[in-house]
Amino acid sequence: MNLWLLCSLNLQHASAFNLDNTTVLRKNGESGSLFGYSLAMHHQLKPTDQQLLLIGAPHAKALPSQKANITGGLYRCEFTMQSDDCERIPVDTEDEKPGQGIDHRENQWMGVHVKSQGPGGKVVVCAHRYQQWIYNNQLVLGRCFILKENLIVEDTRTFCRNRPKSKDLFGYCQQGISAAFTKDKEYIVFSGPGAYDWKGTVRMEPIENFLLDPYEARDQNVFNERRIPLGISSYLGFALDTGTHLLKKEEQVIVAGAPRSNLSGEVLFLKPEAVEDQGSLHVAHILQGPGLASSFGYSLAVIDLNADG
Ligand SMILES: *[C@@H]1O[C@H](CO)[C@@H](O)[C@H](O)[C@H]1NC(C)=O
Ligand SMILES: *[C@@H]1O[C@H](CO)[C@@H](O)[C@H](O)[C@H]1NC(C)=O
Ligand SMILES: *[C@@H]1O[C@H](CO)[C@@H](O)[C@H](O)[C@H]1NC(C)=O
Repeated sequence: MNLWLLCSLNLQHASAFNLDNTTVLRKNGESGSLFGYSLAMHHQLKPTDQQLLLIGAPHAKALPSQKANITGGLYRCEFTMQSDDCERIPVDTEDEKPGQGIDHRENQWMGVHVKSQGPGGKVVVCAHRYQQWIYNNQLVLGRCFILKENLIVEDTRTFCRNRPKSKDLFGYCQQGISAAFTKDKEYIVFSGPGAYDWKGTVRMEPIENFLLDPYEARDQNVFNERRIPLGISSYLGFALDTGTHLLKKEEQVIVAGAPRSNLSGEVLFLKPEAVEDQGSLHVAHILQGPGLASSFGYSLAVIDLNADG
């Protein structure tokens, strides 16, 4: 496993080109909808075997049942040469559950992030600016939806709901700016970069086998942010991915960017482990950013270049 950074320093002779400019696949969205802000390839196996392109448009108009003007949305597109054949996937159309206040969807940025679990797997799509209006609070919790492989919504996840709501705890979690599936396919990883005064937090929870324990950066019930070794405004979890064999063979690791940490940005390697009967994500390693304001960790991907697992 290697980490690579590729740079082009040839400034004088720079030119842009398409690798193949005769057979270009182009999909158009509605203007102003930010169509293409996020995208994922998805391979559905059932009910039919088909490859799809999933495209987020976080400024798309609301669906009729959403009681808002602009909500953002998710589109599915087939690999055809037609540019206008993408269809909106109905996500986030249900009313709130009793006792959960009002779902405020205006400007919630649905489609800010979308990811597929792989062939025959699930899909996650998020709206990091979703607000819950409850009592006199307007909480910017953010939330994510899990879709079955056939793109039917199966579950909603809002891990900061029903938690202490102050700014220095979970009132501005902004869950969903990133999300990731673990390689063993059992867990999904979310972050709340706005938790703990924008220090940020990361949570790994089971997708559907609820006999498995969830894990969270340092602790799940005590909410002691001092146990996460970063300063406030670090934005931990702004980008997320997972990998195995990164630090040790067979071991599952979460990689999380904190682009505002320690002025230059840092990337944390988090390891799930049980501490005092609590599932905890322990910081196993930190990569430091290269220089002042470089925003190291703003986006990241774990890849296996030499295919050794
Ligand atoms: C494809 O790229 C070549 C080389 O840049 C250019 O000469 C040609 O006009 C392009 N064709 C199209 C259809 O854009
Ligand atoms: C939708 O737009 C109308 C007209 O600008 C505005 O009055 C209304 O408050 C908006 N709805 C929401 C949920 O913000
Ligand atoms: C912050 O960055 C500086 C300079 O790169 C480094 O020397 C220092 O150890 C870092 N501080 C922490 C708390 O990681």
